Amino acid sequence: MIQFEDVQQMAMIGAGTMGAGIGMCFAQAGYQVNLYSMTAERLDRALARIRNSQQLFIEEGLISAEEAQAARERIRTTTRLDEALAGVQYVVESVPEKLELKQNLFRQMEDCCSEDTILTTNTSGLSITAIASACRHPERVGGMHWANPAEIVPLVEVIRGEQTSDHTVEVIYRITERLGKVPVRVRKDVPGFASNRLQYAVLREAFHLVEAGIVSPEDVDRTLKCGVGFRYPWLGPLETADLGGLDVFHSVAQYLFPALSTAQSPPEFLDRLIAEGKLGIKTGQGFYRYEEDKRDEILRKRDLYFIRQWKLIRQVQQE
Ligand SMILES: NC(=O)c1ccc[n+]([C@@H]2O[C@H](COP(=O)([O-])OP(=O)(O)OC[C@H]3O[C@@H](n4cnc5c(N)ncnc54)[C@H](O)[C@@H]3O)[C@@H](O)[C@H]2O)c1
Repeated sequence: MIQFEDVQQMAMIGAGTMGAGIGMCFAQAGYQVNLYSMTAERLDRALARIRNSQQLFIEEGLISAEEAQAARERIRTTTRLDEALAGVQYVVESVPEKLELKQNLFRQMEDCCSEDTILTTNTSGLSITAIASACRHPERVGGMHWANPAEIVPLVEVIRGEQTSDHTVEVIYRITERLGKVPVRVRKDVPGFASNRLQYAVLREAFHLVEAGIVSPEDVDRTLKCGVGFRYPWLGPLETADLGGLDVFHSVAQYLFPALSTAQSPPEFLDRLIAEGKLGIKTGQGFYRYEEDKRDEILRKRDLYFIRQWKLIRQVQQE
């Protein structure tokens, strides 16, 4: 059985939005990383993204230029799956969110790895059990769900599939800690795990408020950022309820829960936006408009604010 201490080399399968950031975290924590994608062009883009992100880490004093370079030297890129998986003790899969694609990949991965290599998936909410069902050894398959941007957001959900062994869960958990991330155990393989269930519960109500003309999109965002969400980096919803008084929250929940959206599908206005090609920043228009020459700067600022917030939280935790 692969122990936590045995893990030195990992394969990062997929080098897109998530794979690049996840690979960077492993490399910066001292692991050898085999970064796989289908095309050399995709790998080049991933390396450029890593370099850009590291630049921000350096400017914010999180790592030195020498550490950043040493981490990059630990990343080997390849467009061959067998080459990526040869000799590794740990795998993170982060290819597009299609069950059949992931199952096929896990089947192939098993053929290229040793019998006890730990195989994890970064699926946003597909069933870990269904992905693992493609494997002869589903006990070594578990969920390792990151949030975007992976190299910055601290949370990583560690998800147990129906057949995931205690040992596999423990190795994923300890590796997450070693990466400097904050692991959360998701004990049941439910759609969306914990983080996306919470995120989409909020999103469903946000869509409803806009669709019913109760609040504008700008004011939905303002309400969250300046009110409810303003507290969240410091106080979760359950801590907030404790501090406010459980009796108060109970009284409000009694009349409010029946009034909340229970929509079973995304709203029609979202279908319309998508049909018009308004997909958000990547097409220049979503709920808001994004000028082409400002898009990179918007993403850079997002990353910068996230890094500064995380630095502040860690500083306060240490006080
Ligand atoms: N983007 C997010 O915000 C986010 C957050 C958390 C989890 N996820 C999950 O992470 C996974 C990857 O998402 P992403 O946004 O990084 O996707 P992406 O499209 O940016 O990257 C996908 C990668 O997979 C490779 N790929 C595509 N088709 C493939 C195939 N047939 N076989 C092997 N490799 C293939 C691509 O070359 C690319 O390297 C998905 O499961 C997604 O649900 C995404």
